[in-house]
Amino acid sequence: TDDLFKNVISHAKEYGFVFQSSEIYDGLSAVYDYGQNGSELKNNIKTYWWKAMVQMNENIVGIDSAIFMHPTIWKASGHVDGFSDPMIDNKDSKKRYRADQLIEDKIEDYWNKAFSDLDDYFKRNEITFSSTEEIDLNFVKENFRNPEAGQTIVDIHSTNFSENVKRAYLFIADDINAKNALELFKSFTDALISEDLSKLRDIIIEQNIKCPVSGTANWTDVRQFNLMFSTQVGAIADESETIYLRPETAQGIFVNYLNVQKSGRMKIPFGIAQIGKAFRNEVIARQFIIRMREFEQMEMQFFVRPGTQREWFDKWKQTRLNWHLALGTAPEKYRYHEHTKLAHYADAAFDIEYNFPFGFKEVEGIHSRTDFDLSQHEKFSRKKMQYFDPEVDPETGKPYGNYIPYVIETSIGLDRMFLLTLINAYEEEDLSTEEKQDSRTVLRLHPALAPVKAAIFPLTKKDGLPEKAREIMDKLKLNFNLQYEEKDAIGKRYRRQDAIGTPFCITVDHQSLEDNTVTIRHRDTMAQERVNADDLDRIIGDLVSW
Ligand code: GAP
Repeated sequence: TDDLFKNVISHAKEYGFVFQSSEIYDGLSAVYDYGQNGSELKNNIKTYWWKAMVQMNENIVGIDSAIFMHPTIWKASGHVDGFSDPMIDNKDSKKRYRADQLIEDKIEDYWNKAFSDLDDYFKRNEITFSSTEEIDLNFVKENFRNPEAGQTIVDIHSTNFSENVKRAYLFIADDINAKNALELFKSFTDALISEDLSKLRDIIIEQNIKCPVSGTANWTDVRQFNLMFSTQVGAIADESETIYLRPETAQGIFVNYLNVQKSGRMKIPFGIAQIGKAFRNEVIARQFIIRMREFEQMEMQFFVRPGTQREWFDKWKQTRLNWHLALGTAPEKYRYHEHTKLAHYADAAFDIEYNFPFGFKEVEGIHSRTDFDLSQHEKFSRKKMQYFDPEVDPETGKPYGNYIPYVIETSIGLDRMFLLTLINAYEEEDLSTEEKQDSRTVLRLHPALAPVKAAIFPLTKKDGLPEKAREIMDKLKLNFNLQYEEKDAIGKRYRRQDAIGTPFCITVDHQSLEDNTVTIRHRDTMAQERVNADDLDRIIGDLVSW
């Protein structure tokens, strides 16, 4: 699975999806650029989201608020005081670490040590395996004191942990009494899968599992490091004021909620959607475009009557998962993760997670944010944030009247969705027959998401075929993003289009000049059929539209 991830990353670069930002200057950490195919794919994901959220829902409208906002907004939202990571500096190396990350690294150290101890144990007892890299599971199972725990080991082996981690499990298993083993395994696994480091920490402390602090490093105390980027407005130093690059798009929706409600004559329940950039000075950049310093969010705040939030929360939780599944992704690739420790503003929170090659990771959050944000803005701006609800409450017989709405938020990271889409579509397909070896790399993207909808090939560069191909292309290009290619053999051209997920390849040959027919080749089945060129608009349109 490590290889798969690496292959997808290099594929993304080779085929113009994602480049490291400022690459010729050795790159800028955790910042990426989208190339010619990447920006098309990204735009198509945005369109899919926008249509599903705004176009399909009468009571949801979209906005586009500025990245720069009044600095007090971030006081009110809690970001100035609370949006930070715990940090530790190494006084000797001057390197900065995230405290929780450091502890994770120490745990990794511990695991490494655990494994080498285990290795020693095997050697001492003259237990040999086909290679030191390979632990014979059957041996462990047979020799383990608790058969149930043996099964757990098997389970662990089928998850996405690093080899060291897996081996550490085995060591722990050998180190503790069997009664405790199963429970410990389970909680360890839970904590690892949910990447809940504090839980992992708790287990280690609770179980008194020795986790040696590496070396004699000279560490500072833990301090809080704010994740917001700041800059100055105003050219003269005196006039300047610190402002922040927004760390989420949501606040642009909150502060505009009454503008939209009044100008759009919106009635509760209603939603406001937005797609835009957000910035976070992430201390640890990891896993390609999973954690970036500049990224994009697609957020929707749904304003509801207090007391109805649970019902709307449940609805949006399901609706959002359905949005993901409608792309044809296997349902088992997804799962919900419920937050047990809630943020101060939330009364419920679920993540939608996708099973990436490196394990389940959050792609989207659905949060019940109560009236926290709007109340805070009322407090800090001293402007009324109330909505007047004229609808009659059947219980009292009177209008619901003035209140601050409650908010259900759906927040998806566009870049994570992009990576998910790429990984999910990527396939190295073996096409070998008895006669010859063959393979292709194909992106099985939903046709509506594909960067290029159809490629047009003249069979040869002469005999008027390029002219005919261009004539067909001119008729279609108003409706679809197309690519014209005349270089190389047809087979090679097919492969290049497969690699970027183009659902159709259209070949113009000599017969086309006579009867206006072309061959259309389908990406997934590789099947070809002969159709009239005048039907292409409909054929392509039927498949690539939503
Ligand atoms: N308004 C709520 C909010 O911002 P969040 O969980 O911090 O919630 C929402 O972010 C989504 O944004 C995440 O589920 C993730 O997909 C994406 N996201 C957050 N930080 C990111 C980063 N550094 N790089 C890429 N995507 C990120």
